[in-house]
Amino acid sequence: MQSIVLLFSLALLGVMNYATLWDFPKLPPPSQYGNILINRISGKNGQLPVTFSHWIHRIKYTCRVCHSELDFAMEVNKTEITMKKNREGEYCGACHNGKTAFGFTKENCPKCHNGDIAYGSEKFEEFRRHMPKSRYGNKINWSKAIGKKRIKPKSSIRDDDYSPIPFKKMLVLKSEWSLTADAFAVFSHKRHIRWLDCADCHPDIFNIKKKGTKFFRMKYILDRKFCGVCHMNVAFPVQDCIRCHPALGRNE
Ligand code: HEC
Ligand code: HEC
Ligand code: HEC
Ligand code: HEC
Ligand code: HEC
Ligand code: HEC
Repeated sequence: MQSIVLLFSLALLGVMNYATLWDFPKLPPPSQYGNILINRISGKNGQLPVTFSHWIHRIKYTCRVCHSELDFAMEVNKTEITMKKNREGEYCGACHNGKTAFGFTKENCPKCHNGDIAYGSEKFEEFRRHMPKSRYGNKINWSKAIGKKRIKPKSSIRDDDYSPIPFKKMLVLKSEWSLTADAFAVFSHKRHIRWLDCADCHPDIFNIKKKGTKFFRMKYILDRKFCGVCHMNVAFPVQDCIRCHPALGRNE
């Protein structure tokens, strides 16, 4: 109710600054945006938590390689990764096998088990310098980077002939309230399937019917639902309003 009153007064005053309606999580430094520490079982087994950096890996592989082919969950500590499975070639072991990337030998344990969320950051600025820029998150425009072939991540490690289903539907997602009609959002399938599998989004995150998704609002996105599954922690963050809402001003 409070927020409706507030929205209404903002509309009356002609103030465009919707951003004041919500609390946003604080962003880490660009070199650590998308970095995680995995600690489902490490600590319990006398090891430091495992460091994993999205920017280091997404340069070489698209999201679908890990989140579809290799079955990693899009939620930290959810996947049942064990060293036994790793050594049998599942999860991290699909690449960390001593060939594609460093393997599970003694000198390599601390490359993963170091509890350091900033691990690998010293290489970030040099890499970012050559990439198209954006304003938030890693401050890299990953969409342009892949579109202009500045990076060429592999889309599959299982199938050399893989190419995504050519589905280019562009959607305009309308606001639930007429008061916020200027806050329509754009969603491009073409730009997403360069990285993701249909199954990364359908049917768990989004209904396959346009406007079939219920409670499609910022409140829930900020609660890591819908677009917020990715756009709160790996893809550019919600602070970057204008990229989803072309009719809204920049969030200064
Ligand atoms: C490529 C990264 C990587 C390397 C290298 C690595 N691990 Fe792990 N390890 C993991 C991940 C991921 C998990 C699951 C972490 C979690 O959920 O807490 C794990 C889990 C573990 C566990 C928890 C119990 C179990 O059996 O799964 C132990 C113990 C462990 N690692 C020991 C080691 C030792 C010892 C080495 C070096 C010989 C090593 N790890 C090298 C990624 C790695
Ligand atoms: C090399 C493998 C790999 C790639 C590539 C990858 N991820 Fe991940 N991702 C992971 C792992 C591992 C986790 C942690 C899973 C766990 O702990 O259960 C994770 C977790 C996540 C999370 C949850 C983060 C959090 O803070 O809870 C999101 C969201 C996510 N990934 C999105 C993406 C997106 C979007 C892409 C592509 C731009 C991507 N991932 C590419 C391996 C990968
Ligand atoms: C799809 C392949 C793939 C998967 C899956 C994968 N990695 Fe990697 N990883 C790589 C490659 C390739 C590199 C080397 C990147 C480079 O140095 O350019 C790397 C590098 C790393 C590094 C070193 C970063 C640095 O600065 O040297 C760490 C730590 C790491 N991976 C952890 C993990 C963990 C933990 C997992 C599983 C949760 C995992 N990786 C899953 C391919 C993968
Ligand atoms: C990753 C995409 C994305 C980003 C970034 C984003 N939004 Fe949204 N937003 C949506 C979607 C999707 C909806 C629901 C459909 C609609 O209303 O257009 C929505 C809804 C809204 C609404 C309608 C009222 C409500 O509560 O849902 C407002 C106002 C709004 N956003 C403002 C903002 C502002 C301000 C920012 C930046 C601080 C922002 N959004 C960032 C995707 C995004
Ligand atoms: C990043 C997430 C994401 C990915 C990946 C994705 N979609 Fe969607 N899709 C959406 C969203 C969001 C909607 C709109 C849902 C709504 O309005 O409730 C949608 C809607 C649709 C619709 C209904 C369109 C309409 O106008 O009624 C179809 C069909 C569809 N998707 C097919 C696909 C196919 C096929 C793929 C893979 C090639 C795919 N999607 C990949 C997010 C995604
Ligand atoms: C499963 C993960 C995922 C979900 C869910 C998701 N996105 Fe994205 N989105 C990405 C990734 C990855 C990119 C590439 C750019 C990046 O990583 O910053 C991207 C890029 C975009 C772009 C930039 C397009 C361009 O070329 O500039 C927009 C706009 C966008 N998303 C809007 C949305 C909206 C709106 C929703 C919800 C309806 C949504 N996304 C849901 C992962 C996701």
